[in-house]
Amino acid sequence: MALITKSIKGTQDTLPSESHKVRFVEQTALEVAGNCGFREIRIPVFEHTELFQRGVGDTTDVVQKEMYTFLDKGERSITLRPEGTAGVVRSFLENGLYNEPMPQKLCYLVSCYRYEKPQAGRLREFHQFGLECLGTASPAADAEVIGIANDIFNFLGVRGLRLEINSIGCPACRKDYHKALREYFENRKGELCHTCLDRLERNPMRILDCKSPVCSEIAKDAPKALDYLCDECRTHFDSVQTYLRAMEIPFTVEPSIVRGLDYYTKTVFEFVSTEIGAQGTVCGGGRYDGLVEEIGGAHTPALGFAMGIERLLLLMDKQGLPFPEREKCSLYIATMGEKASFKAASIASVLRREGVEVQFDVVGRSVKAQMKYANKLGAAFTVVIGDSELESGIVRLKNMESGEENEVALEDFEGAFMRASLSESLKGLEDLGVGTGIDLDSIMNGNLF
Ligand code: HAM
Repeated sequence: MALITKSIKGTQDTLPSESHKVRFVEQTALEVAGNCGFREIRIPVFEHTELFQRGVGDTTDVVQKEMYTFLDKGERSITLRPEGTAGVVRSFLENGLYNEPMPQKLCYLVSCYRYEKPQAGRLREFHQFGLECLGTASPAADAEVIGIANDIFNFLGVRGLRLEINSIGCPACRKDYHKALREYFENRKGELCHTCLDRLERNPMRILDCKSPVCSEIAKDAPKALDYLCDECRTHFDSVQTYLRAMEIPFTVEPSIVRGLDYYTKTVFEFVSTEIGAQGTVCGGGRYDGLVEEIGGAHTPALGFAMGIERLLLLMDKQGLPFPEREKCSLYIATMGEKASFKAASIASVLRREGVEVQFDVVGRSVKAQMKYANKLGAAFTVVIGDSELESGIVRLKNMESGEENEVALEDFEGAFMRASLSESLKGLEDLGVGTGIDLDSIMNGNLF
C-alpha cells in the first residue's frame, strides 16, 4: 500500500499552487521564441532506442548509463526520451519538413527521462523548453538562438546568469584534437574509470565530461578544443562573438565547456547560475551540423538549446521573482434550496460562456459554510439566492474586497455583474496609475449585456 501512494524517486508532482508558475514560464518562453518565428512541435515521449544511440551518441553518459530503455510487447527496444533534439530531428526528416521554407524554426515543451542520482535541480523526470533551428550554417543564427534564451531570462526577470560559450570545432579540426587528447589521457590511463578507458579508444572527448571525480580532475588540464580550431571554425566563432557584442549580450569564453551529448559541433553554450547548488546549468545548447546526416538526412547545419524548467523555477523562487496571480473565482453564488440552485446553475453557465470563473454550491452545504468556502476561494464577488430573493427578484451583489453591497435585479443579474466586475478592473488599473480613458458604458454598449 505504501508503495502505491509514493511517487517514483526523482519525479515530482506540480500542484495547483505551483502549476500557474510553470504555465507562466512556459508561455513566456513560447511567446519570446514565437516572436523570432519559432513554432511549436510536439513529439512522442518514446522513440526507438537506436535514435538516441545514434543521435545523442553511444559513448555518452546519457546513453551508457541514464536511459530508461525497455522492450515493448513486440520485443522492440524503446527508450523514454532523455532530451528533445533527437526526436525533433527524427520528426523533421520523417515529415519532410526540409521541404518547407528553411531554416525550420521549431520549439517544444517536453518531459525528459534520465536515470541520474536525484538531488536539488536534478530529477529523473524533468521538463525542458527547447528550440531547434534547422538549415542554417550562419553565425547569425547562433547569436539569434543564444539571444532568445537570454531574452526569455530577461522577460522573466532572472538575474545573474552567466553565459559561457565555447567552440568544439568540426570533424576536420577534431582529428588533431582527438589525437592530442589521446596522448594526454594515455599518460594517465591507469587512473581513468572503466568507461573512460573505452572512451579513450572510441571518443576521447567524452572523458572531459565524465562525472567520476578522478576523471574530471584529470580532465581539468587536458588540451582544449579552442586551441585546435581550423580556420573556418575560428572565423565562425569570432563572428558569433561579434554578433553577441552587437546585441549587447555579455558572455565569457569558457574553453572547458564540451557538453554531454555527442552531436555538437562548433559553438556550444551554457547559462549557469551559482544560486541553485551544484546543478547550476539552467540552459545548454549549441550547433550540431552533422546530426541530421547522422540520422539519415541530407547535410543540414542546425543548432538549438534546451532550458530545464525545474531549475529555472528553482532560481526564480530563490530570487523571489513575481509570478502572475493564480486565477481566482470571480463570482460565488451561494444558494438556499433547489430552485435557487437551478437559478445559480443558469447564471453560472451564461457567465462561464463569457469566460468568467463562477462557482456555486455543488455539495449541499449551509449558506454559512458556502460563504466560508467562497472566502477560501478568494471570490471577488458573492451573491446569496434563496426563496425570498427569487420571490422579490432582487439580490445583493457583494464586493468581497470593499465589503460594498449593491441591490441588483435578478432578471439583469449577468449584466449587472459584468458591469460591476469591469468597473472594479478599471479601478484597479487606475490605482496602478494606468489611465485607461475607457468609459464603462462604451464597453457595455454593443456587448451582449
Ligand atoms: P542538456 O544540457 O542535456 O541538453 O539539457 C538541457 C537542460 O536540461 C540543462 O541545462 C538542465 O537545465 C536541464 N536538465 C538536464 N538534465 C536534468 C535533470 N536530470 N534534472 C533536471 N533538469 C535537467 C539537451 O538536452 C540538449 N537537447 C539541448 C539542445 C537542444 N542542444 C541543441 N538543441
